[in-house]
Amino acid sequence: MSNSVLTDIETLRHRAREHVENGAITEGYKADREEIIRLLNESLATELVCTLRYKRHYFMASGIKASVAAEEFLEHANQESEHADKLAERIVQLGGEPDFNPDNLSKNSHAQYVAGSNLKEMVLEDLVAERIAIDSYREIIQYIGDKDPTTRRIFEDILAQEEEHADDMSDLLEGL
Ligand SMILES: [Fe+2]
Ligand SMILES: [Fe+2]
Repeated sequence: MSNSVLTDIETLRHRAREHVENGAITEGYKADREEIIRLLNESLATELVCTLRYKRHYFMASGIKASVAAEEFLEHANQESEHADKLAERIVQLGGEPDFNPDNLSKNSHAQYVAGSNLKEMVLEDLVAERIAIDSYREIIQYIGDKDPTTRRIFEDILAQEEEHADDMSDLLEGL
C-alpha cells in the first residue's frame, strides 16, 4: 500500500481559491521555490552561453569550409536556444524572473565560453561543455526528486538532448 494520502475534493477546491495570485504555484508545491528558480537561472545562463559558443563555432567552421561540423554546430545552437526558452518559461511560471543580463551569463553558467582557434579545439570544447551540462542537469534532477515533477521533466528532456549533443561531438572529434 502506498503512503501517499489523497486530499478530499472539498479541501482541494478550497485551497485552489486561496492565493489565486500565485498562479501555477499551489499549496501542494513541495519544492524550495527560490532554490528551484536559482537552479533554473543558472541553467538558463548555461544554455545561453552554449548557444553563443555554438553560433561562433558555426560561423568559424563555415569560414574554413568544414560543412559537416558547421551543420552540427548550427543545429545545436538552435536547440540550446530552445532549452533556454523552456527554462525561462518555467521560471516565470514559478513566479521568478529569467536573468538575460549579459553581465551575469558567464558568471552563472556551468559551462564555459571557449572560442576555439581551430576545428578540433571547437569540437573538443563543445564536448567538454556538454559533459558539464550533463553532470549538472543530472544532479539537479536528483535534487528535485518528486518535489516538482514539471521542472524535473523539463530538465530530463533537456538532459536527453545534451547526451545526444555530446555523442555528436564525440563522433565528430573521432574524425578529426
Ligand atoms: Fe542545452
Ligand atoms: Fe547541448
